Amino acid sequence: MVNVGVIGCGNISGIYFSNLINLFQNTNVFACADIRPERAQAASEKWNIPVMSNEEMMNCPDIQIILNITAPDAHYSLCKQALESGKNVHVEKPLSLTFEQGCELTALAKEKGLLLGGAPDTFMGAGIQTCRKLIDNDFIGEPIGATAFMLCHGHEGWHPSPEFYYQYGGGPMFDMGPYYLTALAFLMGSVTEVTGLTSKPFEQRIITSQPKYGKIIDVEVPTTVAGLLRFENGAVASIITSFDVWKSTLPRIEIYGTKGTLIVPDPNTFGGPVLLSTLDGSGFKEIPLTHGYAENSRGLGVADMARCVMEGRKDNRASGELANHVLEIMSAIHKANDEKIIYKMKTRINKPAPLPNDLLKGQV
Ligand SMILES: NC(=O)c1ccc[n+]([C@@H]2O[C@H](COP(=O)([O-])OP(=O)(O)OC[C@H]3O[C@@H](n4cnc5c(N)ncnc54)[C@H](O)[C@@H]3O)[C@@H](O)[C@H]2O)c1
Repeated sequence: MVNVGVIGCGNISGIYFSNLINLFQNTNVFACADIRPERAQAASEKWNIPVMSNEEMMNCPDIQIILNITAPDAHYSLCKQALESGKNVHVEKPLSLTFEQGCELTALAKEKGLLLGGAPDTFMGAGIQTCRKLIDNDFIGEPIGATAFMLCHGHEGWHPSPEFYYQYGGGPMFDMGPYYLTALAFLMGSVTEVTGLTSKPFEQRIITSQPKYGKIIDVEVPTTVAGLLRFENGAVASIITSFDVWKSTLPRIEIYGTKGTLIVPDPNTFGGPVLLSTLDGSGFKEIPLTHGYAENSRGLGVADMARCVMEGRKDNRASGELANHVLEIMSAIHKANDEKIIYKMKTRINKPAPLPNDLLKGQV
């Protein structure tokens, strides 16, 4: 087993603790840390693991992977500190607040010979793996286009501390775009050109969740963000993410090929349904899922990194390069709005390898 030190014991940490402790066979949660001691203490008691400070974790020779699931403004500094301390590190999305920081982290990991990984790992779930198999096996022909929509009214109605969603590094593209763009990159490959438009219809938001009910948040970032993307194979896609929409009937992701259309499941989940329409005229049919991990398997990217640590490999699927490619696309959409440009991408990625479809539960 590979020892993982978890930094950040907030809202999303429960599913990571649960899966890294109970689901994956190759991960052991060694310790937890949080800048708020009461949070680390609560996690320690619930999951029966010791508390450490960030520094103790960085210096602990028994820990091989740092899992950084703090809020976005702490991602870059803690990842940098972990890499400089000789630790492999997997971080929640977004990789960092700026593309420059993302480039610095990917370069540092390479220089140190360490693994860097980034969320999301939902593309490793059964739904999107099934979509990849259909594309690879030519069910829709060559992908020529895609649409992606993430339309909601923000997170202040349920998240206990939703301020970060409206601060620099937040907004619908930096928050939810990673799911959609990572899925598109996994299924269609590198993006080469980007343009976009953004807007901010509401200057303030009111928290309606507990315990901050009634608190007003100033909105620092655009909350409707529309991007146009060109892929390396020439395919063109549009993506709209918004925290300003009360209701919508639009699909999550559709991919259009020369021979058919694929409806990709919600990329913020691991399961289906996957729907396929081909030229036989019979309309959309639901396709049985070909892979495991249809349930909430957050942490799959960490387990895949643990596989690499154990086998001395560098091909973790939810890689820093992929997360940085996505970060560049998201930054470019905002930049294109501000500078009225079509942005030429600097990074390119190879599509991560699909997962084997005969894995036993808990294996990667
Ligand atoms: N909440 C969700 O449903 C959800 C889902 C998927 C991904 N995420 C991502 O997970 C990350 C965390 O989200 P969350 O909702 O758990 O946020 P949160 O605010 O509930 O938790 C973050 C925790 O990190 C701690 N922290 C911040 N800076 C720290 C530092 N320097 N050292 C140690 N601890 C520090 C905070 O005290 C807090 O307990 C974000 O990047 C978010 O985008 C959240």
